[in-house]
Amino acid sequence: MELLEIIRKRYSCRAYQDRAVEPAKLDKLFESARLAPSAKNMQDWRFIAVTDKKIKAQLAATTNKPEVFEKAGLIITACSNSDYVMKCGQSIAPIDVSIALEHICLQATELGLGSCWLGSFDTEKVRIVLGIPKNIAIIELMAIGYSADEPKQQDRQRLENMLCYEKWHF
Ligand SMILES: Cc1cc2nc3c(=O)[nH]c(=O)nc-3n(C[C@H](O)[C@H](O)[C@H](O)COP(=O)(O)O)c2cc1C
Repeated sequence: MELLEIIRKRYSCRAYQDRAVEPAKLDKLFESARLAPSAKNMQDWRFIAVTDKKIKAQLAATTNKPEVFEKAGLIITACSNSDYVMKCGQSIAPIDVSIALEHICLQATELGLGSCWLGSFDTEKVRIVLGIPKNIAIIELMAIGYSADEPKQQDRQRLENMLCYEKWHF
């Protein structure tokens, strides 16, 4: 599949088959994260992949749709070990982690898996469930697994609303 085709195919999957993701596929997902770019190549991300049904249910219970996401083959908790702020004033933690997560979800699409970014979760409950130390930032969760729903394309803005060339003229 061409990259643009994969990008078009990805959607937020909110119904999963109760089916494990094969280890070879897990390896590809995390290899795609490992190869992601990061500021100063610091690679200060940390990923916890939960496949165990009991822990997965506890983790899903911290989200807005527990009964949906507990069925996903895995839930990834993406963390950062970094408080580095770039010269531009932006923290690298959410940026670097998000790039790696997007690699993962596009790789998932290519492997025939559904995925969903999850920002609606209780951080402190996730910290307790997974035993994540206080100094580690929990950036985002992502559910991945075999889809039990149909891909649906969401509306997107027209390009001219978000892009101009050479100078700001929105
Ligand atoms: C940073 C981020 C956080 C999100 N958090 C949630 C979430 O907590 N629960 C959920 O069901 N979807 C979540 N989504 C999915 C968005 O709602 C979805 O990407 C958006 O509506 C566009 O739909 P699409 O992904 O199907 O193209 C999140 C997406 C992003 C990028």
